[in-house]
Amino acid sequence: MKTRGIRTGAAASLPDGVRIREASPADRDQLAEFIAALSPQSRHNRFFITMTRPAEPVLRMLCGTPGTDAIVATSADMIIGHVMVIDSLTPAGLRSGDAGIVVADAWHSRGVGTALALTVAARAASRGVTALTADIRPANEQALSLISRLSPHARITRQDGQLHAVIPLGTPIKA
Ligand SMILES: CC(C)(COP(=O)(O)OP(=O)(O)OC[C@H]1O[C@@H](n2cnc3c(N)ncnc32)[C@H](O)[C@@H]1OP(=O)(O)O)[C@@H](O)C(=O)NCCC(=O)NCCS
Repeated sequence: MKTRGIRTGAAASLPDGVRIREASPADRDQLAEFIAALSPQSRHNRFFITMTRPAEPVLRMLCGTPGTDAIVATSADMIIGHVMVIDSLTPAGLRSGDAGIVVADAWHSRGVGTALALTVAARAASRGVTALTADIRPANEQALSLISRLSPHARITRQDGQLHAVIPLGTPIKA
């Protein structure tokens, strides 16, 4: 499926053996290890703080809860990437989703982030989400590049020293 915004259904090529699936509460300990093993820069870019282990409520949310879509990428059953979208309603009554994504450093630039982003965008569009949002550190060129590559319609503004991206999912149109 193609939309006016992100190419939600575009085929994403994954490295051999990499799988994408929904996260579940059974992933809690492995997710904690995955986050602890990230480089400080990747952890900071994703979570904006330098903690090595998220608080328990955050860990639970990373596993997926009602209103939160959480997806993992795995290789040999080990988590190598995670993306999460938290749905909310805008003041105008539209459904929006706040997205956060991170890929293990050793797996960067192999297509995992693109595949996770496309997967979560397609799932959000199918729930009626009209736009994804993301907060990005100004120096985070990898995230900015991912957004601009996937959505030429993304709008990026500066808010409180961070960048705020709004990525329209749009009405599905024929590919
Ligand atoms: C942003 C992030 C998720 C991107 O993940 P990724 O897996 O490296 O993304 P991809 O591999 O799909 O794309 C990255 C680059 O590799 C390129 N690439 C993808 N597959 C490739 C391949 N097989 N061979 C060579 N290059 C490839 C892409 O074209 C892209 O290039 P570009 O940066 O010039 O646009 C990752 O950098 C990350 O985890 N950063 C830390 C957390 C973060 O910043 N999160 C965002 C804020 S929530």
